[in-house]
Amino acid sequence: MSEENQKKSTLIDWDSRYAGRVPYLKSSAIRDLLTLTNQPGIISLAGGLPAPEAFPVTEIKAAFNEVLEKESTKALQYGTTEGYIPLKEYLCESMRKYGVPAEVGNVIITNGAQQGLDMVGRLFVDEKTVVCTEGPTYLGALQTWTFHGAKYCTVPIDKEGMRTDLLPELFRQHHFKFIYALPNFQNPGGVTMSLERRQELANFAQKYGVFIIEDDPYGNLRYEGKDVAPIVSLAKDNTFYLGTVSKTLAPGLRCAWVVAPEAVISKNVLAKQSSDLFTSMLLQMAVHKIYTSGMLKDHVANVRVLYKERRDAMLTAMDKHMPKDVIWTRPEGGLFLWVTVPSIVNTTEIFEKAIENGVAYVPGVAFYPNKVEDGLHTMRLNFSYNNPEKTKKVLNV
Ligand SMILES: Cc1ncc(COP(=O)(O)O)c(C=O)c1O
Repeated sequence: MSEENQKKSTLIDWDSRYAGRVPYLKSSAIRDLLTLTNQPGIISLAGGLPAPEAFPVTEIKAAFNEVLEKESTKALQYGTTEGYIPLKEYLCESMRKYGVPAEVGNVIITNGAQQGLDMVGRLFVDEKTVVCTEGPTYLGALQTWTFHGAKYCTVPIDKEGMRTDLLPELFRQHHFKFIYALPNFQNPGGVTMSLERRQELANFAQKYGVFIIEDDPYGNLRYEGKDVAPIVSLAKDNTFYLGTVSKTLAPGLRCAWVVAPEAVISKNVLAKQSSDLFTSMLLQMAVHKIYTSGMLKDHVANVRVLYKERRDAMLTAMDKHMPKDVIWTRPEGGLFLWVTVPSIVNTTEIFEKAIENGVAYVPGVAFYPNKVEDGLHTMRLNFSYNNPEKTKKVLNV
């Protein structure tokens, strides 16, 4: 055989070799658009990024150093999949303060909440499993469950969060397996679910035998108003709760946790074991040091002051410069404003124009799993990343 022919016969046709779920991984037009937001010179209101100046670098450095100096044998060794027990004990105690009756057996540590969402996919989603999400919802959850073959139905949100009154009819039509809820300062909607709606959701789940994924990365970032009881405290046997250090300490740490019934946690352990064995012990021990050093309260208070100022700067600039027929949410916390423009404006179509003018946002369609027309006239704006001067400048174009 000639060298040329030999090469041809050994060339692999990769497309024919992928697993059946891989075609679900198609990149979407909207994700391709979002790569434009990273161009130099663009002021981006698109990402969900915390402010880098809020990262507690000194404390993180000190915690890692102390762990390495005093406990390197343990920190650099393999660890258990369940997670570092002192960190889990700390998390249980702090969750109990919010009315969540968590014991160590109810908790597993993960590499970010995103891994928790992926484990939900691995444990509960088959091809054609129907998932009920809020519309709009967190893009990263859609990405991971779509990979596992999920189909979706959506329940709209309003000022009080998820329209729980619509759930019985949606269930009759779609027989969804679980409901994905973002009760605090919803990403991307910015709204917080009222206690009445949380209770109604808990009652629904118990009555219809469905479970809830409660994703709560922003709960600590409240700038006004009072905390509302987490859904897991109202329906603990039906809820899979996700917490993370990403928005209060730093997303680069990749440390998060799941609280769920013990039997579900043991299946999670198997799912995580087959994926990455365990979350770095060095990381977990350092996060534990940071949490128990007593710095958290002051740190979170400072972050709240910083983000409140940024939220207010964005709201003031919006009030001043937006046309009358544009409306937006006034979030009590979190990182985002959700903006609705008149129906003659398509936020995907004007995105490239915005980039040409040096500003990026996320067009609303990105946050809906189903119909393309959903979200056509909406967009998400992030206020945590840029300082108030930049935000004012960009909204004054
Ligand atoms: C709603 C929601 N869930 C999960 C995540 C992922 O969090 P983590 O950084 O802990 O993976 C994010 C990140 O932006 C988010 O907004």
